[in-house]
Parts: sequence; structure tokens; C-alpha cells
Amino acid sequence: MEGETMPQEQLSVAVIGAGMAGRSHAAGYLNANTVFGRGLPRIRLAAIADANRDLAEDAADRYGFAKAVNSWEEVAEDPSIDAVSIVVSNALHRPIAEALVAAGKHVLCEKPLAGTLEDARAMVELERSASVVTAVGYTYRRNPAITAIRDHVRAGDLGDLSVFFGRYWANYACDPRGPFSWRYTGGPGSGALGDIGSHIIDVGEYVCGPIQSVSGGMFTTQITERPLPLGAVVGHEAAPVSEETAEVDNEDTAVFSVRFQSGLAGSFSVSRIAYGMPNELSFDIEGVAGQVSLDFHRPAEYIHNGMQVIVGPQLPYFRDGYPMQAAGLGGGYAEMFTYQTRAFLDHVSGGPDPLPPNASFADALHTMEVIQAVVKSAAADGARVSLPTATR
Ligand SMILES: NC(=O)c1ccc[n+]([C@@H]2O[C@H](COP(=O)([O-])OP(=O)(O)OC[C@H]3O[C@@H](n4cnc5c(N)ncnc54)[C@H](O)[C@@H]3O)[C@@H](O)[C@H]2O)c1
Repeated sequence: MEGETMPQEQLSVAVIGAGMAGRSHAAGYLNANTVFGRGLPRIRLAAIADANRDLAEDAADRYGFAKAVNSWEEVAEDPSIDAVSIVVSNALHRPIAEALVAAGKHVLCEKPLAGTLEDARAMVELERSASVVTAVGYTYRRNPAITAIRDHVRAGDLGDLSVFFGRYWANYACDPRGPFSWRYTGGPGSGALGDIGSHIIDVGEYVCGPIQSVSGGMFTTQITERPLPLGAVVGHEAAPVSEETAEVDNEDTAVFSVRFQSGLAGSFSVSRIAYGMPNELSFDIEGVAGQVSLDFHRPAEYIHNGMQVIVGPQLPYFRDGYPMQAAGLGGGYAEMFTYQTRAFLDHVSGGPDPLPPNASFADALHTMEVIQAVVKSAAADGARVSLPTATR
């Protein structure tokens, strides 16, 4: 029909970074056409890039990318590529996003948006002037249980909310012999808070609305130096290390309180050295007429008014998001990456019935501002710090 955008017949995609999360993006592109109907163009897996050639080649073989390349620049310079995921260390997000947008490519960037608040602000300026899709991978937004909880809150099922308790406790940095990597440098706020705290902040705001102010910020760093790796480090994995060490300049743990714009009080704690806790994003929301709780160690269920709710086709994302349409058979993190990728590609291709779009760079800037407010609060003995922007 005249004036309507026709969906493209094929989209060529690339992933920059073949480490822990890069492979999850690769799997997302591979599977995006298997879920939520047939509206997407055919996806061509054009290239996967990593400075570590072995990793790039391994991922290209396993996921079926046409080529493995050594640098992100090769992706930016390839005119056949339409859309790209940026899945490398946070400090590289801005230069890569700038080059990709300048080359006319759609961008799905990993969280947190950037290595610094200044870079994040520049990326929002870039988004404002861009004619391509720019999005951020806040993957927990694609969990059926978290989305259902958001629906409960929005529908008023819990009545007026009284308190939000959120935490993200992980044990990936418990071992003091764990190798030094980009995760252990970047200054206050770039440690556990930026890495995993950004997720629970985003979930808190996704469900309860924007945070307005922060107080009681406090950081601790228990493991102040770590051994240098002898070779490549992938994600949180162990690796052979040397006797030489490097200084850790960011936090192992963070705690803080917040006031949401709605008036709701919240309390957050974040740790990358939580012994015995592989990956526990969890939260409780109390309202005057109901409560909900979620613990991501059991990702396919949540508690509503004291009762266990099993994730199944009655919840958002599950129907058409899983091959088997039966409760109790789904809920993993890989599927959430597939939904995130599908939402990005829906947005890019303009197909019918798109999934809700991913977070924008501007949404993700807000998370960076919350993190910066925690840094300021911690530096001022826990003082209250208001956010520069009251709304997202
Ligand atoms: N959404 C999520 O749940 C989630 C989970 C984990 C990580 N992340 C995010 O994903 C990003 C990457 O994290 P990760 O754990 O995968 O890191 P990682 O260290 O496992 O992988 C990063 C990869 O980038 C490669 N690399 C470095 N410089 C490069 C360059 N110039 N060109 C090409 N490749 C280069 C490295 O060789 C490495 O393999 C971070 O922003 C992180 O916060 C998101």
C-alpha cells in the first residue's frame, strides 16, 4: 500500500565480540526466525568479529556465520551488513557505535551503555541524530515472569506499592586467583554495580517506574588485586595466570537506597563475590493489596500473594516463544536473548506485530545516571543525590 514501509527480504547481521555474551547474541540471531511468527525477513549471519581469532572462528563455525573477522572495523566497513550487535567491553561501546551509525548500520549495544557517563551522553546525542535503530540489551526485560510482574503492577493488582527490595548477587569474582580483566578496571561504579547492578536497576525501573534519587550509597572491594592472565579471558571463566598482579579499581559490592518518582522506597544490593550464588537476580515488591517475589535461580516461576506461579503459555513471551507450548518447560537465559534479538530485528525490519522494542540509548543513559548518583552518594558518606533527569 502506498506510504507503507515494506519489510526487507533479507537482513545481513554481524556480532562484534565472541566472548560470553557475544555467543548469546549469535544464538539470538540464529534463532530469531523460529519464534513469534513469520514476519521477519531471512536473516543472513554475515560476520562475527573478535580480536581473539580462535574465538571468532569457533563462534562462526558453531552458529553458521559466513566469516570470522579480527576487528570491529572490518564489520563497520562491510557495506553488505545491515545490523550489528556490540558485545565487547563497555569502554569500546561508544567508538564502535559511532562508526556503525556513521556507516548506516542498525545497532544493538550491550549494557551498561558505555564505560563513562560522558560517553553515554555522547551516545544519546548520536541516537538523536541517527536514522538507524539504536537499542540496548537489557535482557531481563524479556523474562516472561518479570514481564508478568510488570503487568500486575501496572494493572494495580498489588494496590499502592510500599517497598521494592532488589538484589543481584553473583559469585563470579569470589576466587582471588580469578584473572584480571576489563571487568576490574574503570573506577567506582564500573565494577559489580555497572556490570550486574545495571540489570537490577533496569528491572526495578522497568517494573516500578523511574528512580528519582539515591541515598546511602556504599561500596566495598574485598579483593584489591588480581593476577594477570597468561592468555585470553572469556567472560567470568578461570584462565591460567601469572604471578604478576594488577590493581582492582572498582567495587566488589554496592548497596544503596532509592526513592522512585512515584514515591515508592527501594533498596538495592549488588555483589560479584556472593559465595554460593551463581547468578541471583531477585526482587520483592510489597503493595497494600498484594505482593510479588522473583528469584532468577528459579527463572520459570514467581510468587504472587504467597502462591507459586509456573511460567507457561498464560504469560507474555511464552506463547510462540517456545517450541513446546506447555507450562514448566521453559525459562532460560538463552531464550531471552532470542526474544531481545527478535525485538531488535522487528524494529529494524518494520514487520507486523513487533515485540515491544528494546531499551533505547536514552533509557540506558538513565541507568548510568542512577549508577553515577550511587557513586556520588558513596563519595559523600551516603548523602542523598537527586538524578539530573526526573523522567526517562
Ligand atoms: N545482557 C547480558 O546479560 C550480558 C551478560 C554478559 C555480558 N554483557 C555485556 O556484554 C559485553 C561483553 O561482555 P562479555 O562478558 O561477553 O565479555 P568477554 O570479555 O567475554 O568478551 C568480550 C570479547 O571482546 C573481544 N574484543 C576485545 N577488543 C576487541 C576489538 N577491538 N574488536 C573485536 N573484539 C574485541 C575480546 O577478545 C573478547 O572475546 C559487556 O558490555 C557486558 O556488560 C551482557
